[in-house]
Amino acid sequence: MTDVPCAFLALLETDATWRDPAAFRWRADAADRLDLLLLAMDSAAERARAECLLDAMAAADEVLFAELREAIRAGRGKAALAPWLDVGEPTGAHYDALDALLAGVFAIEEPVPDNPRPPADMVFYQPTPMRHIVDAVRRAALSPADHVLDLGAGLGHVSLLARVLSGATVTGVEREPAYVASARHAATALGMPEAVFTCADAREADVTQANIFYLFTPFIGPVLRDVTARIEAEARKRPLRVVALGPCTRTFARQPWLKTTDANPEANDRIVIFTANPV
Ligand SMILES: C[S@@+](CC[C@H](N)C(=O)[O-])C[C@H]1O[C@@H](n2cnc3c(N)ncnc32)[C@H](O)[C@@H]1O
Repeated sequence: MTDVPCAFLALLETDATWRDPAAFRWRADAADRLDLLLLAMDSAAERARAECLLDAMAAADEVLFAELREAIRAGRGKAALAPWLDVGEPTGAHYDALDALLAGVFAIEEPVPDNPRPPADMVFYQPTPMRHIVDAVRRAALSPADHVLDLGAGLGHVSLLARVLSGATVTGVEREPAYVASARHAATALGMPEAVFTCADAREADVTQANIFYLFTPFIGPVLRDVTARIEAEARKRPLRVVALGPCTRTFARQPWLKTTDANPEANDRIVIFTANPV
């Protein structure tokens, strides 16, 4: 092994910074680096030292996750998560330390779907990067007066985080039963039984209660067209907003009944918010 990995091992063994459960980002970076170095280590003793450090880091993470879970259960989730919510103006489809943190906190089991190949025009599961959810909650100024409907909710991350951060009513609609079961289980474990997850095709789901429709490109083509028409029918009855991420944004940008102040209404690497007001 070269001097650099040796020095890094020694640094981690002596510097206690990462042992503070709150030092999550620092620890996540160090663990990534250590994982990479481990691949190149051939001394059994050094590998054992690296593995011991990684175990200790995972244990420190678990302490933090448990504290944050407890805060959410006690209704203090927004304040407890505040140190991690400075996401700036996020873009991109990549995942980062906030996703790792909230994956640990929400602890949602990811089941193998019954039908791993989605039907035509329906998109497979991919979660919204958490920074975009934080951004959407902030820019849409979500509050307890809002009702968010996540169409194609996957494992429910959007609904859960939106509820924790804003107190909004949240409903997730998802066609895959195993995902719905996981989302419900996570909501119960987090003390949020009021987060509702419904197993349905978005073309048939109840869209009459929500005023915020969230879509991270869950479907395309005729399915997206049908669901867009259903949202449009609701927009004739009451004010609502569509919060979009990914390629489906382009479809909403082209709807004459939707308006946005966004400088680039077709941007697909960040949240775009559209507003509809009955005429
Ligand atoms: C890209 S993922 C988005 C998941 C979640 N909204 C998020 O942002 O983290 C799309 C999800 O939509 C679901 N989906 C696809 N077609 C659907 C349909 N017609 N009705 C309900 N859910 C659907 C998929 O099973 C998948 O879980």
